[in-house]
Amino acid sequence: MKIAILPGDGIGKEIVAEAVLVLSALDLSFETETALVGGAAFEAHGHPLPETTLALAKSADAILFGAVGDWKYDTLERPLRPEQAILGLRKHLGLFANFRPAICYEQLVDASSLKPELIAGLDILIIRELTGDIYFGQPRGRRTAVDGHFPGSEEAFDTMRYSRPEVERIAHVAFQAARKRSKRVTSVDKSNVLETFQFWRDVVTEVGGQYPDVALDHMYVDNAAMQLVRAPKKFDVVVTGNMFGDILSDEAAMLTGSIGMLPSASLNAAGQGLYEPSHGSAPDIAGKGIANPLATILSAAMMLRFSLNQAQAADRIEAAVRSVLSQGLRTADIHSPGTTLVGTRAMGQAVVKALGK
Ligand code: IPM
Ligand code: MG
Repeated sequence: MKIAILPGDGIGKEIVAEAVLVLSALDLSFETETALVGGAAFEAHGHPLPETTLALAKSADAILFGAVGDWKYDTLERPLRPEQAILGLRKHLGLFANFRPAICYEQLVDASSLKPELIAGLDILIIRELTGDIYFGQPRGRRTAVDGHFPGSEEAFDTMRYSRPEVERIAHVAFQAARKRSKRVTSVDKSNVLETFQFWRDVVTEVGGQYPDVALDHMYVDNAAMQLVRAPKKFDVVVTGNMFGDILSDEAAMLTGSIGMLPSASLNAAGQGLYEPSHGSAPDIAGKGIANPLATILSAAMMLRFSLNQAQAADRIEAAVRSVLSQGLRTADIHSPGTTLVGTRAMGQAVVKALGK
């Protein structure tokens, strides 16, 4: 088993280091290789996704990814910005199926901005299509930016598109995931306005015909955004396109009160996957040793389960995380009165210690 470790920018290095220590404490045999990605790779090699990093990612069984991005790169021309690294990895590796669970940990119910009764026990799985939609439209309006401005251009455009095979394969992923849960899928679209999403709705409905045991309903994205804060527990599996999934998954993650706790997986047809926390690079707190490493540690658990066939080891990590929460340990993002404030390192060490039990 070979794991590519891509820490990236901001808090990425700190949180990935803790996840690697947790993995090492499991007594599994795997090889790791680390490479630069994002702004860090741009600084060193002039590109956010250097050939060597891409080659490593392709050759690995799984990728553990931190986060990329920093405001200081906002004025770079788009192909050189750190975000292009993650988009490039998704595209080059065909990582079309993005799993973003939004789970409310019972110990953290008070950290949510919603009333506890609305989110206690919340367990939603957002399945976001990740390699199509307006993110990868063709042709794509490209302007050369100079200091963040587009001289001489009075418009910009991006095209939204989905092909039948792209919608079919993500729909299958959603229905199959629902079979292992409560057998309900909500497909989110904007078919009242956008042709792309009328097509999406038609194809998802067709694929749904092959899963008579799974209930399918459709919801417009604006309504879904509203229902997520009104009655989030009504959702189970949510499947949607790249753009809407980007927005709704942040919304769902935040309403659990624990965005620093939520892992994600991006899988291709071969089961190869990239695993990363749902949160970003948080440049404002980078280097301070206060970031929450649990989302990355839980992403490592997802990696063991989905790509490396080590479900037991994944269970052990998840149990260890629950145990440190029960001990009352909290990083600053989830800290509340009466709990113990710890930094990144101490949190990682506590998880390693809890593994031993
Ligand atoms: C995410 C991020 C990325 C996205 C950025 C960093 C390109 O927001 O993974 O949700 O928009 O997909
Ligand atoms: Mg996002």
